[in-house]
Amino acid sequence: MNVLLTGGMGYIGSHVAVVLLQAGHRVILYDNLCNSEASVLARIEQITGKTPTFIQADIRATKTLTDALKQHAVEAVMHFAGLKAVGESVEKPIEYYANNVEGTVSLLEAMRETGVRSLVFSGSATVYGEPQYLPLDEAHPLSATNPYGRTKLHIEEMLRDLSVSNPLWRIVCLRYFNPVGAHESGLIGENPVGIPNNLMPYIARVAAGELKELSVFGNDYPTPDGTGVRDYIHVMDLAEGHVAALAWLAEHPGWYAINLGTGQGYSVLDMVATFVRACGRDLPYRIVPRRAGDVAACYADPGKALRELGWRARRDLLEMCASAWKFQNRTGTGLLGSDCEGRLS
Ligand code: NAD
Ligand code: UD1
Repeated sequence: MNVLLTGGMGYIGSHVAVVLLQAGHRVILYDNLCNSEASVLARIEQITGKTPTFIQADIRATKTLTDALKQHAVEAVMHFAGLKAVGESVEKPIEYYANNVEGTVSLLEAMRETGVRSLVFSGSATVYGEPQYLPLDEAHPLSATNPYGRTKLHIEEMLRDLSVSNPLWRIVCLRYFNPVGAHESGLIGENPVGIPNNLMPYIARVAAGELKELSVFGNDYPTPDGTGVRDYIHVMDLAEGHVAALAWLAEHPGWYAINLGTGQGYSVLDMVATFVRACGRDLPYRIVPRRAGDVAACYADPGKALRELGWRARRDLLEMCASAWKFQNRTGTGLLGSDCEGRLS
């Protein structure tokens, strides 16, 4: 199949590109590089021995996108492009609505124009808001607590409206839990600019000696060890879930939401202990007050993905940490430029 990946040079898109290429699909990467690097292309080639097409452009350039869909006879789109930092979205909501919501409208116009009707969307478990029960299944009430989350929620609603308007659309919103880790080669992975906001890249940099110590945000949550619990999922498992969703969509017109998680929650201290095993080094940390907006625990009911897609996550926390460590060592940091409009740290 010819598949166009918006945001395909980014962390998750690049791993999905690898799995798609290895499964025999043709891949067109469409990315403005506002949060990724041109060198990712060579790394994807190095891993797969195949050369995806790369188009450097913004998803809001509807004409360019339309031309790309036509020229490459695209049959399905995977939509990763967007801004994703929660704190930044509070400070710069216009950039978030423009990139994420307006960008998606532009993509949908281009797809309608060219008759491309299959779409896999990068959703997020953030649309469940404060968990009312655990594990989180797809029927859990939806809400958003910040502009980033609201863009994800608006997009899901927009996609659902679209599928009601025309039964030819096939749309699946994959709600990711906490993607971490890297490709086993260590050639592609998550490399945020500046001081990471998220736990795994922060830990990797402490282990590498680039940051002094990890701040553990609170140890007084109602969890087994008092620290926050999350459903960390290996990015390669996540990538395989996309390929399964693409195949499934061929038989399923309509709109669907499906969780991609492991169903298993781990605490911050579990993560620290496992990373220490993976890297064989000390990992200094300090308990500090809770981070505003954090919930105690969040993990998926991954049953629907298994029932519908026949997919489940297979890689464990040690593989997540070991691959993140390998990527950290191969790549170091400071790889990316800092020209992304509206990105802080
Ligand atoms: P990322 O920033 O690494 O990748 C996003 C890519 O999109 C980048 O390469 C960036 O350059 C590109 N991009 C951004 N705006 C664009 C635009 N207007 N036009 C063209 N390209 C643009 O992020 P990621 O972690 O790979 O996330 C991919 C998607 O998954 C995002 O939509 C994100 O919200 C969603 N998601 C990510 C996580 C996570 O923890 N990483 C969790 C839940 C959902
Ligand atoms: C965050 C976002 C979420 C987004 C996800 C993936 C917030 C409130 N939520 O989720 O919307 O989808 O990232 O990008 O930002 N922790 C520490 N020290 C650190 C960093 C994190 O103790 O330096 C803890 C957190 O308190 C949490 C856990 O580690 O318990 C995971 O944090 P993080 O990786 O930031 O992910 P989320 O907060 O789950």
